[in-house]
Parts: sequence; C-alpha cells; structure tokens
Amino acid sequence: MSVTPSRPAKRVTVHTLEEMKQRNEKISMLTAYDFSLARIIDDAGIDVILVGDSASNVMAGHETTLPITLDQMIYHASSVIRAVKRALVVVDLPFGSYQGNSKEALNSSIRIMKESGAHAIKLEGGEEVCESVKRIISAGVPVMGHLGLTPQSIYKFGTYAVRAVEKEEADKLVRDAQLLQEAGCFALVLEKIPAELATKVAASLKIPVIGIGAGAGVDGQVLVLHDMLGINKDFSPRFMRRYLNLYQSIHDGVHQYINDVKSSEFPNENEQY
Ligand code: KIV
Repeated sequence: MSVTPSRPAKRVTVHTLEEMKQRNEKISMLTAYDFSLARIIDDAGIDVILVGDSASNVMAGHETTLPITLDQMIYHASSVIRAVKRALVVVDLPFGSYQGNSKEALNSSIRIMKESGAHAIKLEGGEEVCESVKRIISAGVPVMGHLGLTPQSIYKFGTYAVRAVEKEEADKLVRDAQLLQEAGCFALVLEKIPAELATKVAASLKIPVIGIGAGAGVDGQVLVLHDMLGINKDFSPRFMRRYLNLYQSIHDGVHQYINDVKSSEFPNENEQY
C-alpha cells in the first residue's frame, strides 16, 4: 500500500501572526526547552514555541529566572530548533545579557540567532529597552516584547502578585506597549495583569498581544508547558489550566517499572534476545 506523503507544514512567521490578528484568529504559544517535547508540541500544531528563561525554574530548579546564562539559553534553543518544522521559535534574552546597553543587547541577540538557529528573540521591559529593540531589529532580528509581571525584575517587585492594578502603573504599561510597537516589536506578551487592561492594550495595538494571566480579550495565550501538562505539581496560580496530570502518570509508570524489576516480571521472554 502506498502512503501519500503529507504536505510539508507551512512555517509560521512573524507575518503569519500579524495576519492571524487581522483575521481574529487566536495564537497558541507554549514554552519548550528540549528536543523531545518541542517535537511533540510542534507536531500537535502549536503556532509559537517560546524557549523561555523559565527554563531556569523548570529545567534547572532555580527559584528565579535570573541565574540562567546566555550559553544555557542557546543550548536549550538549539535543541528545540532541531525538533521544529512549523512553529515560530522565540528565545528569551536572559537576565544580564541585554540590560547594559543596546550594543550588548544586539550582540546577545546575534549569538542566539547564529548559534541556535532561532527565529526571533524576546526581552522584558518598556521604554528603557526601546533603543535596544530598535538596534536588534535593525540587524534583521524580530523582537517580541514582554510587559506586566516581568520575572527578571522580581526583586524590584518583591512579589509575583498581579501587576498594573493601580492607575499609575496601568497608564505606564499602556504607554510602554505603544512605544514597543513603535520601536518595531512584532508581538507583545502581557503577563499577570487585569483582563480589562490587557483587552484595552490588545485593541489599541496593531501587533498581536499574547497573554499569560491576562484574560481572554487578547490575541493569543501562552503557558509554561510543564505547568499545563501537570509535570510541575507545586505551581497552580489562578490563570493556569492543567490539561494533564503527568506528574502522577510518570510517578505511577516508574513505580510499576520498579516493581516489575524487583519481582523479575521485567523483562519477559519476548523482551530478550
Ligand atoms: O520564560 C517564560 O516562560 C515566559 C513566559 C511566562 C511568557 O516568559
């Protein structure tokens, strides 16, 4: 029986996302940090894969995103890139790799693009990073912005609570979003802010706004893969929906394997040479 080869999936680009916003089609985005999971979520049809600096928490067990290095981000990003055929792959500039000045930001972005093969970078901040955004884009590298709860500033905030609840901070966020769009960002992540504010920002911008804990009135959603798969059972903020309980499934599978080894149930006659 001959099998018709499936048509190669059309790659998602920054222009695809722009078109999706124009036709009101929601954008799906998840994090990934390794080859195996990136291959599954790309095959499942995710639009955007973020190699987030949340790798610092999820993969390395750090309390914050601050310790992860540029070299480590490039390692994760190149593993993801080798797996992906369709999704747009965006990589976080880690803490300390861009805040110094726009030349440092450009050099870090170039390293990510050159050494991992990623398609775009993301950085945190508003007005203060606009010069860097422009310089990175002038080198041909697409940039995604990130406002609201920006985890690299956790020690400034002192807490992971909802941001931009007060008028002053909300007004600044609206202004920063506009400035990031003017600087040339192709999309913006809004993290953990009131839904009403996020809806207003998404409606006022031409570029797609992807929310995490920012309600349903934005152009797309992003979650940390390990949280939504239930691999990480200790993190359950209100905005997070758990689609699987992989912690329990993996735990049970491993427990069964241990029992089978100890009782000589594994391997059986068919599982040996
Ligand atoms: O690093 C990350 O996972 C992120 C998402 C939470 C947006 O920046």
